[in-house]
Amino acid sequence: MEIFITGVAGLIGRGLARLYLERGDRVTGVDAAATARRRLTPEFTDHPRVSLMVEDLLTDGEWQNTCAAADRVLHLAANSDIRRSFDSPDLDLRHGFMTTQRVLETMRAGSARRIGFASSSAVYGEPEKLPTPENYGPLLPVSLYGAAKLASEGLISAYCHGYGFAACVFRPANIVGGEATHGVVFDFVHALRRDPSRLRILGDGRQSKPYLHASECAGAMAYSLEHTERGIEAYNLSPSDTLDVREIAGIVCRVLGLDGVRYEFTGGERGWPGDVPLVRLDPGRLAAQGWKSRLTSRQAVERAARELAAVSAGRPVRAERAPPSVSLDTRLGPEI
Ligand SMILES: NC(=O)c1ccc[n+]([C@@H]2O[C@H](COP(=O)([O-])OP(=O)(O)OC[C@H]3O[C@@H](n4cnc5c(N)ncnc54)[C@H](O)[C@@H]3O)[C@@H](O)[C@H]2O)c1
Repeated sequence: MEIFITGVAGLIGRGLARLYLERGDRVTGVDAAATARRRLTPEFTDHPRVSLMVEDLLTDGEWQNTCAAADRVLHLAANSDIRRSFDSPDLDLRHGFMTTQRVLETMRAGSARRIGFASSSAVYGEPEKLPTPENYGPLLPVSLYGAAKLASEGLISAYCHGYGFAACVFRPANIVGGEATHGVVFDFVHALRRDPSRLRILGDGRQSKPYLHASECAGAMAYSLEHTERGIEAYNLSPSDTLDVREIAGIVCRVLGLDGVRYEFTGGERGWPGDVPLVRLDPGRLAAQGWKSRLTSRQAVERAARELAAVSAGRPVRAERAPPSVSLDTRLGPEI
């Protein structure tokens, strides 16, 4: 199959590209980052079944030809750092929402009709029901990031109804891994490398959320995309357990072999404006299709901390990989 991945140089994009290559597909990836080529290893960029385009989805380019004809479009490109949301209010509108509109229009003008979209559990805002199932409503995000994801979901839904698209909307937990460029585990590893005596923790450290390893996230996305036959389905991608930020600090200190680190809390129940302090996702829909994460939140964070520690020590290890829990090919959806 021809797989088209936007945001391919990102944490999740790289895992997805590897997974589809290993399955024997042809992968075309687009990413606007000037560092995209460097972030992707030669094993990927030199592969005969790979094309990489360093282009911005917000401008016309070569990417449109491949996107228009792809068998599967995985749209991941976005600002992925929720904390940046309120600092530049048009960031998520442009990179989170307008990129989605342009990808959908490019597909409509061509023959591509199946899309997987990296949305977020931020679309739920602060739900009253925990664990939160995919059919929870009303969806009232509390960040501009979440608002752009929800608007994208709405647009994709309309394209499914109006133009016969099939879509998977992924609502992942926090994704961690050795190739991360931000996030709590990344921040802690780098802060402690700089100063192993103390650790600044945003909020009161009681924020409690599920954590999924990037390798498992890629597997879940590819799996559910094959198992959605037509119309639009939303999937929570999450283990069922959670960790709070103090526990994560403890894990990172242990991995780095540090004892007696002084924790300094910035205070308040949120880490930053738009943060949702309590997240529990019900991964029931994907479980009913036969997919379950192998790693708990604790195991995913431990693994990510080990990988990030190795990278920050100048040992660029390749991320440990977890294969998808079940084969992707157990039941392929019909071509549309
Ligand atoms: N990492 C998480 O915890 C998490 C959780 C839920 C949802 N998501 C979503 O999953 C997707 C991938 O996340 P990630 O962690 O791999 O992010 P990432 O930041 O590592 O990668 C995103 C990539 O998109 C690219 N990009 C952004 N705007 C672009 C544009 N206009 N044109 C082309 N490329 C562009 C960036 O250069 C970057 O390489 C994002 O949409 C993110 O919002 C991530």
